[in-house]
Amino acid sequence: SWTMDSIIDDAVEAIRAQVGGDRVILGLSGGVDSSVVAALCAKAIGKQLTCVFINHGLLRKNEPEEVEEVFTKQFDVDFVHVHAEDRYAALLADVVEPEQKRRIIGSQFWKEFFAVAEDLAEGGRPVKYLAQGTIYPDIIESGARKTGGKASTIKSHHNLIPFPDGVSFDLIEPLDHFFKDEVRALGTALGLPDHIVHRQPFPGPGLAIRIIGTVTREKLEILKNADAIVREELDAYNVRVFEETGDRNSERSVWQYFAVLPDVKSVGVMGDERTYAYPIILRAVESSDAMTADWAKLPHVVLDVISSRIVNEVAGVNRVVYDITSKPPATIEWE
Ligand code: XMP
Repeated sequence: SWTMDSIIDDAVEAIRAQVGGDRVILGLSGGVDSSVVAALCAKAIGKQLTCVFINHGLLRKNEPEEVEEVFTKQFDVDFVHVHAEDRYAALLADVVEPEQKRRIIGSQFWKEFFAVAEDLAEGGRPVKYLAQGTIYPDIIESGARKTGGKASTIKSHHNLIPFPDGVSFDLIEPLDHFFKDEVRALGTALGLPDHIVHRQPFPGPGLAIRIIGTVTREKLEILKNADAIVREELDAYNVRVFEETGDRNSERSVWQYFAVLPDVKSVGVMGDERTYAYPIILRAVESSDAMTADWAKLPHVVLDVISSRIVNEVAGVNRVVYDITSKPPATIEWE
């Protein structure tokens, strides 16, 4: 539309005017906000933009490949894929406490990121600009945090941690006056695929906080496979609701859904054999802002398909349970 085009043109002009001939670095998470900033900067400055994707090994099945595909094939930017899976696995090996997982993952992110920034320094001249997907509600939230507002200490969100001493960039934050739905509309207009534009919220620490207890390769594999089935079935369910109601935000559609792997095993039977294996917890909620959430009253037939598929298709799982707790008193994530 005319307004959308002019919003994009204005943003592109502003980025060009700010950056001139300098290099811009951006951390791609796979989420909506950083992807839209990347797409905007790609349009504005092309290969002057380096997109850094730190692969911590904790994204969902196929997500790293999807991010790489979009930002190498569709957009003409400098793309760096950092394979940090082994380093994160080693750092997390014995860690159980959720906030400690968050701290480790958050601080390692910046270490990995700064290492790339250092490599990009030209003739001793450091990278000048950092582009970030800060959106308007982030600013309000962090303001609330500084003034001692509530909702700050239940779980820490690592994407707003300030830089360590001695490190500084000039910030490019082209989304800082937009709301989430406007950012999604921008993403679509810029040609980003639906699986990015309509991606549901996903925590920065990724699957590490959906594996209760220590994170191992075996548990990650189980969780990725079970979660892929949950997403496939509930994506399809949401499409059916959308087709019937014509409303993407219908009350019947599910807002966020995923699998959780707890740190217990239970007895089951398969053929004539006793099994002793993990359960998978299905979490599916309705919400508008994540501050409160209701567990989704999914049709039994949908639950049945998800359960049968997980126990039949995912080795190491012999039981599926459904979390029927709302927020409060529970939180959406288990950690
Ligand atoms: P809770 O579990 O607090 O989650 O009800 C509320 C929303 O925030 C997401 N979440 C996170 N996002 N870093 C993030 O970027 C985190 O550490 C984190 N913890 C929870 C969660 O998925 C839900 O949408």
